[in-house]
Amino acid sequence: MKKLNIGLFGFGVVGEGIYKVLEEKPQLNATIKKIVIKDLSKPRNAPSELFSDNADDILEDDEINVVVELISESDAAHAIIVKAFDKGKHVVSANKKLIAEHHKELLELQYKNNVSFLYEASVCGSVPIIRNLEEYFDNDLLNYVSGIVNGTTNYILTKMAKENESYQDALKAAQDSGFAEADPTADVEGFDAASKLAIITLHAYGKKIDVKDVIRKGIMSLQVQDFKYAKEKGYTIKLIANSTINHQTGEINSTVLPTFVKLNKTIALVNNEYNGVLIGSSLSDEQFLYGKGAGRFPTSSAVLSDISALNYDYKYSIRKYDEKEEGVFNQSGQLKVYIGFKDKNLDVVSYFDEVEERYESPDYSHIIGKIDINTLKNKELIENPNLSLIVLD
Ligand code: HSE
Repeated sequence: MKKLNIGLFGFGVVGEGIYKVLEEKPQLNATIKKIVIKDLSKPRNAPSELFSDNADDILEDDEINVVVELISESDAAHAIIVKAFDKGKHVVSANKKLIAEHHKELLELQYKNNVSFLYEASVCGSVPIIRNLEEYFDNDLLNYVSGIVNGTTNYILTKMAKENESYQDALKAAQDSGFAEADPTADVEGFDAASKLAIITLHAYGKKIDVKDVIRKGIMSLQVQDFKYAKEKGYTIKLIANSTINHQTGEINSTVLPTFVKLNKTIALVNNEYNGVLIGSSLSDEQFLYGKGAGRFPTSSAVLSDISALNYDYKYSIRKYDEKEEGVFNQSGQLKVYIGFKDKNLDVVSYFDEVEERYESPDYSHIIGKIDINTLKNKELIENPNLSLIVLD
């Protein structure tokens, strides 16, 4: 077995977790040789001689054969990964935004440089979704991949559903418990989930979708009244990332949208910071993967699994991918949607092709009906903070 000499970029929650676990697991045959961080003056729980603020101390060191990239800035991470490939180093990354944006380029560079690029930790933390799509479902005709891929929003929605809290109070609770970032925009607006869905979609169907083409609305507009409605009807509300393929037309619908989920459905059982993904297959019907989607040790477990896979030169092969065949995304279809709103003067009804239910009260109203997928791309609708848009399961 070859020795893995690791250069680690970033020593935040996950970086420190990896360091600790590698110290305790010599059987992995992997050692951290250098850790590059931005601020050398900060106290760290590791020997000071391991640290540097110069990326070249890793990238130009020929003894280092693995780069583990755990920084948050995606442009800096991109430069690091491209140079690491150029220097013949394998890369393990958890940077979903960067991967979703540069997926095709980075996969091509890994092949060109004959190295591996692994990123299980970028989607759903400890839940081995990429490896399962790659290895187990690679020949299976999948119909959908759907579920909860963001722990922060799931924690907030669980609080709103179970404790009748407002969005603002639930967000604060998530920040106080250390789940939500000080700037939680990427999570609560659904960008984080959209990046993860783009990565999942490539591995599930072999089709590359731009994150901006995922139809996305976050959870910020949700109101206490929406949860009251959910309770009355036996639902909870979850932020569901969904990619469904139509095998007749080849078209894929990829959405990240708040969704009413019946309380007796498996996904309704995924609470707090947990993630859960359903894989719909023509052969095995439905499979469910569940686990912790964020946090030090859960995310470290996925990074360690990737590091360990380098021992046998593992690479994603994305067998369903054909670069000549572009995917067709979100071109046609209808969704059954609930829109809740306070201001009765808003023209909400015109968004609907078909209205099935209308409810009005002095302080909160809603309409339920069918909306065309092309109307859902309308920014005025999707980005309107005064409209609570929730898909009906
Ligand atoms: N902010 C992400 C989440 C971290 O809450 O799921 C893991 O990707």
